[in-house]
Amino acid sequence: MYVKELHLTHYRNYESLSLQFDPYIHLFIGDNAQGKTNLLESLYVLALAKSHRTNKDKEWISWEEGYTRLQGTVEKRHATIPLELQISSKGKKARLNRIEQQKLSDYVGVLNVVMFAPEDLEIVKGSPQVRRRFIDMELGQMSPHYLYQLTQYQKLLSQRNALLKQWDKRQQHRPMVDIFTEQLIEVAVKIIKKRAHFVQQIEKWANEIHQGITEQKETLNVHYVLSTQMDDCTDEQEMTRTLSEKFDKIREQEEARGTTLVGPHRDDLQFIVNGVNVHTYGSQGQQRTTSLALKLAEIELIRKEVGEYPILLLDDVLSELDDQRRSHLLRAIQNKVQTFVTNTSLEGIHQSILDQSTVYRVQQGKITRMKEGS
Ligand SMILES: Nc1ncnc2c1ncn2[C@@H]1O[C@H](COP(=O)(O)OP(=O)(O)OP(=O)(O)O)[C@@H](O)[C@H]1O
Ligand SMILES: [Mg+2]
Repeated sequence: MYVKELHLTHYRNYESLSLQFDPYIHLFIGDNAQGKTNLLESLYVLALAKSHRTNKDKEWISWEEGYTRLQGTVEKRHATIPLELQISSKGKKARLNRIEQQKLSDYVGVLNVVMFAPEDLEIVKGSPQVRRRFIDMELGQMSPHYLYQLTQYQKLLSQRNALLKQWDKRQQHRPMVDIFTEQLIEVAVKIIKKRAHFVQQIEKWANEIHQGITEQKETLNVHYVLSTQMDDCTDEQEMTRTLSEKFDKIREQEEARGTTLVGPHRDDLQFIVNGVNVHTYGSQGQQRTTSLALKLAEIELIRKEVGEYPILLLDDVLSELDDQRRSHLLRAIQNKVQTFVTNTSLEGIHQSILDQSTVYRVQQGKITRMKEGS
């Protein structure tokens, strides 16, 4: 799939922007603070109705404006699909094929996207929250049902936590808490099962890619780490039983702390390179290779799941990669993945990429085309 057209109205520092794209590489060059990341973010938002860098949707709206509109056309193998998102103080409106969607989960996933930015190193180096977000965003765009279950889970979790927090009324609240526990477990089991399966699949691709980048010197294992020990992440009955027992055991602890202590909101991912946890012990280079391998694995996984390659957004990473990693990346995307790349200058960009790219200059929220791709 590829993005054929993009129109932005009042999006961050773009007052109005219209661009048309071919399915290959698009290179955006500009000084700091001109709008390069904003442009890539807009493609990400068009696809997922969420930003990779903020949870506050209102930040997308240009200062002093009341709304923003993102429109795009996605060319897929069997269809040309118009997408539209509008954000104002009244909230978010999503249109797919010009029809307004009641549920965002019906909108997300038509355009698939993989973003690789410097902050993705945090998936390896950062807190568990970053890793959970990584899984949720990736799984969410492949499975609307997963997104729906996740929303359910978050609702139940905050209701349950609200009850647990009222320490003085705990006797009175216990039957209610029990009801929430039961409902929470039902959704938790489904989420864990899908995540564990996702991790298993991503591991296969990521390991192969990691071995390739390191010329077979390193292997990569990816584990889903549960907040409570379970023998099996496929048998729903067994998982339900394990979780129920756990909740019984920790009831007083939960009441004392006023929060839910086990479940997918506490799970984590672990990356092991040659038997060693890269989060704690990996070198900068190993951490970088791991995050690149994960992103490239995602591209392959999406292709397997949805039947077409996603688009790829590379924000400020190209000049940071050494030759080995860069040529790996290039081979992975060559002629099959529409790619949007940003960089502050043309320096450090390989001639082979330049030859294939359409090059644009980004300046104060305006974009001019400098050269067509070949
Ligand atoms: N809602 C908004 N309305 C107007 N301008 C905004 C809004 N949000 C951000 N900006 C401005 O957009 C500008 C460009 O930001 P962007 O992150 O795209 O820069 P960049 O070209 O990626 O720079 P760098 O090379 O430093 O990463 C910033 O100067 C910021 O002030
Ligand atoms: Mg930037």
